[in-house]
Amino acid sequence: MNDFFDPRYPNSENLRHRAKKRMPGFAFDYLEGGCIDEIGLKRNRDLIKEVQLRSNLLEPFDKTDLGVEIFGHKYSLPFGIAPVGLQGLMWPNAPEILAKAAAELNIPYVLSTVSSSRLERISELSEGKAWFQLYNPTDDSVRKDLMKRIHAAQVPVLVVTVDVPTFGYRINDIKNGLSMPPSMSLRNVIQMATSPAWLYETAKAGKPEMQTLKPYMPKGMPVDQLAAFMNDTVMGKVDAESLKPIRDEWQGPLLIKGLVSESDVKHAIALGADGVVLSNHGGRQLDAGESPIETMQQIVAKYGDQIKITMDSGIRSGTNIACSLAQGAEFTFLGRTFVYGVGALGDKGGIHTINMLKKQLEQTLTQLRCPSVKDLPKYLVR
Ligand SMILES: Cc1cc2nc3c(=O)[nH]c(=O)nc-3n(C[C@H](O)[C@H](O)[C@H](O)COP(=O)(O)O)c2cc1C
Repeated sequence: MNDFFDPRYPNSENLRHRAKKRMPGFAFDYLEGGCIDEIGLKRNRDLIKEVQLRSNLLEPFDKTDLGVEIFGHKYSLPFGIAPVGLQGLMWPNAPEILAKAAAELNIPYVLSTVSSSRLERISELSEGKAWFQLYNPTDDSVRKDLMKRIHAAQVPVLVVTVDVPTFGYRINDIKNGLSMPPSMSLRNVIQMATSPAWLYETAKAGKPEMQTLKPYMPKGMPVDQLAAFMNDTVMGKVDAESLKPIRDEWQGPLLIKGLVSESDVKHAIALGADGVVLSNHGGRQLDAGESPIETMQQIVAKYGDQIKITMDSGIRSGTNIACSLAQGAEFTFLGRTFVYGVGALGDKGGIHTINMLKKQLEQTLTQLRCPSVKDLPKYLVR
């Protein structure tokens, strides 16, 4: 088992700080940004910090078990790597680095539809362990072909994201004219030139492109038409009706990602989903939206026995993971933190970040004297 851990970066903020120095500004801005005034982004962080836990100091206690069984697999830790599109723009080969680290330390890595790496490559590297996140294509033939590839790659779990009916309005991305591959504006060129490690790795890896979607993109499509292509073809206007064909075509575990309300979870159950990821896309889509951490307890109380409830948005530490599980999530995901890890430490960033979160989580549970992650709700104060 790989226990690499770089003591110079013991928390997410340390990784973020170094990643910011090493990535070109436009790539870091894309990673960091929330929607419009970033109220939702801040809310995710503020609310998770309000959760409190209480130790049982005098109860008998031996050691803690951090493993969780979900969808027929026992993972070593109760968290996974959330789908993050264009990862290779932020750090070259980030999907490869993270998928390999996740497979090695036995946690799920979720590959985004709009990844810079090919589904088949990531599936192979992760020995068939990587999950796949689908943006439901509006074009039936694209959906059918993607589903065929997902089956052929023997993806174990399919995650369908439903909270992107429109592109998030992100201020810095608008100012930066974000595109894939990056546009060669003077400002972007200067940012790339002053990020030597990123530039060197990018030169080795090749210019970032949306590899999984490439077969469906018109050849030689101008960069300025990419947003329209994504909007028209891939982002899929989803509702309960348009999700039915996916449920019919996919017999394996199906998670619906991007819900925060009781009524949407009820729809997901009616649709036959096996689980939900309560998420507001890390505050990137609806600036005035609710945070999953504030609706989760009620949702778990009402529907927790009918569907697996998992969560992301705002988690940065082992403590945040413990608090989310204490509030009733069965599993958690982190988005930005893992990209900070790779931005800061390159090839070693995936393993380091998993081990960092593990150490923090283990310390928290041991301090609580909590024997397993399943028992965490008993330690919740508020
Ligand atoms: C840069 C970036 C790109 C993202 N791309 C996707 C994506 O392609 N598909 C998806 O379902 N979610 C995407 N998300 C949302 C994440 O899966 C996850 O919900 C979010 O990052 C969790 O919040 P956190 O960053 O606070 O951990 C993205 C998030 C970020 C930060």
